Amino acid sequence: MIYHRRPSWIMKENTVTDEAVFLNRRQIMAGMGAGAGLALLGTGAGAAMTPESPFSPRPGLNGAFANAGRAVTAESITSKYNNFYEFGSSKRISKEAQKLNTDDWVIEVGGMVNKPFRIGIEDLLKKTGTEERIYRHRCVEAWSMVVPWIGFPMRKLVDLAQPTSGAKYIVFETFMDTKVAKEQKASWYPWPYREGYTLAEAQNDLAFMVVGAYGKVLHKQFGAPLRVHMPWKYGFKSIKSIVKVSFTNKRPKGFWESLQNKEYGFWANVNPEYDHPRWSQATEKPLDSDERVPTLLYNGYAEQVAGLYAGNDQGRINWF
Ligand code: MTE
Repeated sequence: MIYHRRPSWIMKENTVTDEAVFLNRRQIMAGMGAGAGLALLGTGAGAAMTPESPFSPRPGLNGAFANAGRAVTAESITSKYNNFYEFGSSKRISKEAQKLNTDDWVIEVGGMVNKPFRIGIEDLLKKTGTEERIYRHRCVEAWSMVVPWIGFPMRKLVDLAQPTSGAKYIVFETFMDTKVAKEQKASWYPWPYREGYTLAEAQNDLAFMVVGAYGKVLHKQFGAPLRVHMPWKYGFKSIKSIVKVSFTNKRPKGFWESLQNKEYGFWANVNPEYDHPRWSQATEKPLDSDERVPTLLYNGYAEQVAGLYAGNDQGRINWF
């Protein structure tokens, strides 16, 4: 059961759930633990690149995003240490996540758009193309990593969707399938996982839709086949395994914000001077190091994104 250790950044579940449900959940977890633990000993953390992979040859590295200021974190580390609550609340969900079937994945685009549509991943990539970018990632839990992602700018998705003039936000939703993702049976979580951004954020150069990493098709545990990476925001904003994209004029509430809005705000911009209510955000621990390092404002991307928040103070407003 060691790997069911509760992450420190989540509020204690008995503060959001009534005790009977809370206890029941513990029993469910106890039942699941042994098998999943053994499975971790196996190999095959993710999908290997196949000849028919859309990333053979590997897409070109975008020179503007080639240097993240730190070395890339080894894939052997990042692919075994994940947050993907649909598959469990431990970091070691890589084996469990292989249950996700990403074949024939279709994304629904709707809400305030000129014409709603559905599109398969392959067709989407034909329209957007792909490139590689090396990005820092800073989790709100204060661990961090550097990953070479493959994907396309979120702006291209916005252009394709053609939001109407009244649309102000883009909202993404993760798949919902309790047969595949057992934790989605847990009714105390507001499934499906949802995250949103202002259209200005979505159209910033850094906002990235991700379909691959380390030159390969995205590992399932990374959020295959399509996820977001917003490198200047805390990691919980970077939603995985997206099935739905919509546009709205109402500020959306994310998954964690719905659970605990005092701890997981809408903006969630990385800010070393604005602490989480229960711990400091001044430093972070890279996954490949024993030493903590200083956390940078906007995770080091102030030059690209500070303009988005001009007029806000750099603390509270950027968090909530
Ligand atoms: N997306 C979904 N659908 N479910 C999740 O549990 N966790 C978030 C984010 N996106 C999460 C998610 C959090 S808290 C983090 S830090 C990152 O995914 C982790 O991404 P990684 O596992 O690729 O490191």
